[in-house]
Amino acid sequence: MAASAGSGLSSHPVAHAHWQNVDTAIYSANSARDSSGELLVAGVRASTLLAEHGSPLYVVDEQHARDRAAQVHSAFTREFERIGTSAKIYYSGKAFMAVEAVKWMREAGLGIDVATGGELAVALAAKVDPGKIAMQGNNKSDAELEIAVSVGIGSVILDSSEEIDRLAAIASRLGRVQKVFVRVNSGVHASTHDFLATSHEDQKFGIALEDAETAVAAIRTHQSLEFLGLHCHIGSQIFDTSGFKESASRLLKLTAQLRKSGAVPELNLGGGFGIAYTSDDDPEPIETIAAQLADIVRDTCAELGIGIPVVSFEPGRSIIGSAGVTLYTVGTIKRVALTDGHERTYVSVDGGMSDNIRTALYGADYTARLANRVSTAQPQLSRIVGKHCESGDIVVDTEFLPADIQRGDLIAVAATGAYCWALANNYNYVARPAVVAVRNGSSRVIVRGETEEDLLARNVDWSIT
Ligand code: LLP
Repeated sequence: MAASAGSGLSSHPVAHAHWQNVDTAIYSANSARDSSGELLVAGVRASTLLAEHGSPLYVVDEQHARDRAAQVHSAFTREFERIGTSAKIYYSGKAFMAVEAVKWMREAGLGIDVATGGELAVALAAKVDPGKIAMQGNNKSDAELEIAVSVGIGSVILDSSEEIDRLAAIASRLGRVQKVFVRVNSGVHASTHDFLATSHEDQKFGIALEDAETAVAAIRTHQSLEFLGLHCHIGSQIFDTSGFKESASRLLKLTAQLRKSGAVPELNLGGGFGIAYTSDDDPEPIETIAAQLADIVRDTCAELGIGIPVVSFEPGRSIIGSAGVTLYTVGTIKRVALTDGHERTYVSVDGGMSDNIRTALYGADYTARLANRVSTAQPQLSRIVGKHCESGDIVVDTEFLPADIQRGDLIAVAATGAYCWALANNYNYVARPAVVAVRNGSSRVIVRGETEEDLLARNVDWSIT
């Protein structure tokens, strides 16, 4: 939750009657407590999910994910049609890329943004039309480019000048004309964690704004390449739309310049729209963001006297993030005296930085609730920690949980749909949990969990004697 450090509860906003509520501004839309107080996700009890599929468990509210994909798609479609052009939405697969989830996105009419050959393979396995796939990456290999071109990928987002000739040669050899964007580093400083900001000057992505004209001129010399437009992604988990607007305006100015020497039919503004992890987060409705961006594109094009391009977006987190919840089982509980006289309860769960590294990596903040019951006990300052051999193995840094929490209770951490399973690892030989989709009162595995055999399988020359 959103508390800052310190354990003083009396002044904290959590000390109100609803501190155990499952708030659907943070938890998925089909989450609620049943009459006994247990968490239900799409009609399935937390305890049932863990009994059937094991603990810990990634749970995805399938209807929420599908509805959110459709909502984002229709918001941008409507707003860009309003200004006389069209919008394309690519689901950014890096946020969560299971074949099944990609099928939901495909069925909602979205294209897929892939960052590697591996992600491309998943999109193809989900039967996505290759023409609706866009490939990113600051260091694409020849092999990745070759497979992308040969399957007929819709566009390749060129990320460096050296990539131009490489891709042109590959497309030429395969007898194809490959559509491309150029990723530019717009220089807009998005206000988010440093590791999540991607468009300030001193980082690895894209081509500097001032070098873009030369890059586009080079692309236009190649018959095997067709230049579609500029691409920019300013960062992730961004709430303030001013960064997107500034970036759009800088890219449109460059688009106007580039149109003096050839066609520039499209513009890709990337992803990055933030979601609520705690009650402190208050993202704008996607309809508002779409309307604001459409207005800025329309107004800037009018000022520049250019026709409005087709505009693409690549949201990941804002589609899948809130659909996910991670369920854990409580193990060891320790109470630690703090120097200020208060106490912190360390609640250890059966996962940790192997299934959610975002807290350790970015200082991410989450909301957690007791999932198997509500309690009449007092809220107490708690830290939910994992089972790994690092003191930084924290899942939720600061949360208030009931004082009578005990071994065997269940914990639900909200909004884990994006960049948790995707960044999962096997630190300490902990197996990655399964992912289950829940919908209309039933659950099904969409990615199976790992077993100890899986963990051992890649080792050579061993046997248990
Ligand atoms: N397009 C490009 C070119 C990207 O690099 C990304 C994310 C996206 C779209 C999707 O951004 P989204 O809508 O999901 O914010 N691991 C970090 C986030 C890294 C984002 C990487 N690129 C985290 O856990 O917060």
